[in-house]
Amino acid sequence: MSNSFSISTLGCRANQADSERLCQLLRAAGWQELPAGERVDCAVVNTCTITAEADRKSLKLLRRRQKEAQVVILTGCGVTERGGLEVPAGVRVMQPSESASILDILRSEGFQIDTLKSLDVHQHRTRALLRVQDGCDHFCSYCIVPYVRGRIKSFDPDNLTCQVQRLELDGYKEIVLTGIHVAKWGHELTPRRDLADLLRCFLENTKTVRFRLSSIEPIAFPKAIIELMREYPERVCPYLHLPIQHASDRILQRMRRGYNLAEYDAVVREFLTVPGACITTDIMVGFPGETEDDMAILTDYLERTPYYHLHVFPYSRRPGTAADTYKDQIPENVKKERVERIIALGEHLKERVLEQFRGMRRPVLIERFLPETGMVTGTADNYITVNLPGDASLLGKIVMTELS
Ligand code: 5AD
Ligand code: SF4
Repeated sequence: MSNSFSISTLGCRANQADSERLCQLLRAAGWQELPAGERVDCAVVNTCTITAEADRKSLKLLRRRQKEAQVVILTGCGVTERGGLEVPAGVRVMQPSESASILDILRSEGFQIDTLKSLDVHQHRTRALLRVQDGCDHFCSYCIVPYVRGRIKSFDPDNLTCQVQRLELDGYKEIVLTGIHVAKWGHELTPRRDLADLLRCFLENTKTVRFRLSSIEPIAFPKAIIELMREYPERVCPYLHLPIQHASDRILQRMRRGYNLAEYDAVVREFLTVPGACITTDIMVGFPGETEDDMAILTDYLERTPYYHLHVFPYSRRPGTAADTYKDQIPENVKKERVERIIALGEHLKERVLEQFRGMRRPVLIERFLPETGMVTGTADNYITVNLPGDASLLGKIVMTELS
């Protein structure tokens, strides 16, 4: 009988991509993946340390997995030198940059590891995550990520292009470009490169697979990406997750975001002229010094902008960051009330966006079949979720359908 493992993942797409990679490594070594929660030989917990809440969730998952697994391996941002987690005795730690060492860890725990079979054992052949870079050098005043993930490192363009070709051959229909600060891909390479070049190279070296950007920072956003969306309407998804964080210039400056509202808005308006364009964002409320006037500026901007989804975070103090030393911290109850207000506004915006898109025909990648209801669920090129009647034969196919 083969050994078994489970992986629990918190945090962003970068962590999801790392977990996918770990899963491939273990499967290639002949291990069987089971859903988190089942009894396994090895449980991996891939942690996030972005907020105090993320730390708490990471620890909670760890405690649960400890009851279920012989060996527990903790990885992700929480276990880096500056991460917020205290690692209990008996738990193995693996730095996120060293995922290949998972097999050595298991060997040292007495497991017999087979020689690696092929590495292209993917589970679902619909959407693949491709990590194009690691690290961030922006140092927003609230953010722990540059400390835990380190400097920008762009992965090699030729190697990435080979991976993309491989993924297309393996049958993937969509490739999501992920990283910590993907907008800066290529900037530190010699000669200097740019994310739009890289995407063009991918498009020219593949035939039909479509590409999507996951979260991309407005700082250094390569505008040529928008041109590619127009030039390759079937292959570059008209979707952006463009974290704004706030709309008040005073707060943006204290956050050290590196743009003001007018600059952010210029990118948004240009993007929204692309047919089918759909946008989502991250917002942080309760940042030190935020006043009701700042809230009014924020809600006014949100009201004017067709966001399909708002990911709303209450500001969380991270020791070691600049904002943690700011004197005008906001009380938790005020943060909570502001978060609720913005979430409610987000629901309203979503309805408005869905209303605007209703009836528009878009290519939808079918990802799940729900036998009880006879329906399938998929994601349109512009990220709108769609349910339609269908069966398992549609899984992994792209169908033109009306958004509802
Ligand atoms: N507190 C709250 N939210 C944060 N984020 C990053 N750092 C913090 C913090 N200290 C949010 C930002 C970012 C998302 C990934 O997490 O909105 O875009
Ligand atoms: Fe969490 Fe940030 Fe690390 Fe992603 S990069 S896992 S969001 S701390």
